[in-house]
Amino acid sequence: MKIVVRPDAAAIAELVARLIADQLRARPRTTLGLATGRTMERIYIRLAALHRLERLDFSQVASFNLDEYIGLPASDPRSYRKYMDRFLFDHVDILPERTHVPDGMAPDHAAEGLRYESAIHDAGGIDLQLLGIGETGHIGFNEPLSAFASRTRAVTLAPHTRTQNAAMFGNDDNAVPPRAMTMGIATILDARQILLVATGIRKARMLALTVEGPMTAMISGTALQSHPNCLVLADEPAASQLT
Ligand code: F6R
Repeated sequence: MKIVVRPDAAAIAELVARLIADQLRARPRTTLGLATGRTMERIYIRLAALHRLERLDFSQVASFNLDEYIGLPASDPRSYRKYMDRFLFDHVDILPERTHVPDGMAPDHAAEGLRYESAIHDAGGIDLQLLGIGETGHIGFNEPLSAFASRTRAVTLAPHTRTQNAAMFGNDDNAVPPRAMTMGIATILDARQILLVATGIRKARMLALTVEGPMTAMISGTALQSHPNCLVLADEPAASQLT
C-alpha cells in the first residue's frame, strides 16, 4: 500500500478527483467501482465540476456501486442509487444504463449477488475502485468477520454502522435498514487499482489498523494489504495515528 497525506478533506477530494480524471482521460472506457457516504460527496462534487469546466468525459464509462440498503427502492431519496444521482450521475454524461447499483429490492438475495458478479465480469472487471472506510473497519458493507473470499451478498450491518449512517434517516439508528447488499471483499480485491480514501479524526484508528495492523477478518480493510495496487489517500487528521 502506498500512502499519500494531504492537509485536509478538500485537498484529498481535489487529488482523488484528479486521479480519476487522469484515468478517464487515459482510458475513456474505464469501469469504475464507486462508493457512497460523506467522504465521497466532495469527490463527486469535484468530478462534476471537472465535467462542467474541463469537459471531463463520462460517456464511455461504466460504474458499479459497492452496496445498497435492502428494502429501499431505487426511487427512495435515502437509497444509494439516489445518492449517486444526486452527487454525480445527474451532473455528468454517464449513460444511465451503464451505471449499476445492487438491487436492494431483489426478492432473491443470492440470485442478485450472482447477477451483480456476472455483470461486473461481463463489463471486463473493475479498473479503478474507490473505497471509504467505516468506523468498524468495513470496506463496502463488509463488517467484521466477513470472509476475505466473500462475494456480492446480503449482509447484516453492525450496530455502529447504523449509528454512523443515521443522519440520512432522521438521526434514528433504528430507521436505518438493518441489512444491505454489498460487493464482497474478494470482489473488491479483483479491481485492478484501488483508491482508499479516509478523512477526519474519526477514521484515524481504523486507518492505522488497516494499513499497519495484522491482516485480520476483524478489520475487513486489512485485506487491502494483499492488493498489488492500492493507494491510500488520507487527510492529516485521518493519518494522525499512522507511525
Ligand atoms: C459506502 C460504503 C462504506 C463507506 C464507509 C465510510 O458505499 O461502502 O464502506 O465508504 O462507511 O462512510 P463515510 O464516508 O460516510 O464515513
